[in-house]
Amino acid sequence: MPDRITSANEYDPTAHETFESTYAVFADLRARCPVAHSTAFDGFWAVTRHQDILDILLQPELYITSVRNVVPGSSATGRRPPLHLDPPDHTPYRKAIDRALGAARVAGIAETTRRIARSLMQSLVARREADFIEHFSSPLPAAVFGEWLGLTAAQTDVLWRTAKAYVKAWESFDKSSVAVAAAQLAEMAAEVIAERRREPRDPEIDPTSSLIAARDDQGQPFPELLLAGCVRQVLVVGLVAPPILLGSIAVHLSRDPALQRQLREDRALIPDAIEEFLRLYTPYRGFARSARHEVELHGRRIQPGEPIALVYASANRDESVFPEPDEFRLRRPNIRQHLAFGRGPHMCAGIALARQELRIALEELLAQTSHFELCGELKMSGMPEVGPISVPLRLSPAAA
Ligand code: HEM
Repeated sequence: MPDRITSANEYDPTAHETFESTYAVFADLRARCPVAHSTAFDGFWAVTRHQDILDILLQPELYITSVRNVVPGSSATGRRPPLHLDPPDHTPYRKAIDRALGAARVAGIAETTRRIARSLMQSLVARREADFIEHFSSPLPAAVFGEWLGLTAAQTDVLWRTAKAYVKAWESFDKSSVAVAAAQLAEMAAEVIAERRREPRDPEIDPTSSLIAARDDQGQPFPELLLAGCVRQVLVVGLVAPPILLGSIAVHLSRDPALQRQLREDRALIPDAIEEFLRLYTPYRGFARSARHEVELHGRRIQPGEPIALVYASANRDESVFPEPDEFRLRRPNIRQHLAFGRGPHMCAGIALARQELRIALEELLAQTSHFELCGELKMSGMPEVGPISVPLRLSPAAA
């Protein structure tokens, strides 16, 4: 049996990546080295097969998030529920967030999402050539979040700019800029908490009011630091993945004009297309866990506390689960097995909101154009995300 690995660099997520190259690396790891060690980011394990990842996600008592929930990690940030807590401590925070994401609340945000998406897309198409992410897929989720969180227009603008700076700093592994952006987000969380304490809102509508009103299993309000950490987590949690995923969709459809035409002509196909795009272009490369005690996976011994990155983007192209995994196929019979939203107690709380936002975004892109194509170089994000962060598009308006 191989002993504890301390120096092997079997996976290097800092190597240059293109739109496709990352997936070839994952396919190779799945085949040859399904539990790979990387020396990047102070060392971590990368698990790449679908079944192994699912097994880990469904054993939250053994594989925990409270030591490390993502690679690379950042020491500049305090503890932020729900992602950083294990059940049962995690559960009251998660329930409080879920309360403000019920079906009626999500449906109530649809009209605003449509209005914002329509107006952003009108401006994008009027430019004829522009960066799809900068002008559409990044500001849209920020505006939707501003609506969900009940922020003012000025607060929403600050949130968008700060979240962009935060993500950029993480991607360039610039710890001092991460700390600056994290402090700005913490300031904003404190401001929103103070406002909701002065004027509480309906907890079925407003996530901050729901967190303030919630009680832990001792019947106590959440400790101040954890409440602040949770609101800060909630502020940015839905702003990172949608811009990248929509960027990947725009690239895919630029390269596949027949599919672009098919979806434009039959919009009823869009929800199924989005599910397949989530599988193909899983925007969170993965989150992480660590084991409570030593475990052995495929002959590798993993020590307690060592970060284990669960590469969701690889699981979703695992050929043993999704035949011809690199192909776009509408209505795969087992599409619900994709892990783009994770699984287990930390499975994404915002799935319904995310699906609605992605659907409306794609509907507007297709409705307001007769054709679009790439017109420049893509820029790619790094771990923990995967996908483009800049997508230059040339757009032809729909016939009036
Ligand atoms: C394309 C869009 C999105 C994707 C792909 C996505 C993906 C994910 C994934 C993979 C996780 C699990 C993390 C883990 O395994 O440790 C997660 C957690 C979470 N997501 Fe999303 N997400 C998206 C949008 C959103 C939105 C719009 C919200 C809005 C409320 C949201 C709220 C959350 C929350 C609160 C958690 C933490 C859940 C917990 O720890 O219990 N997400 N998301």
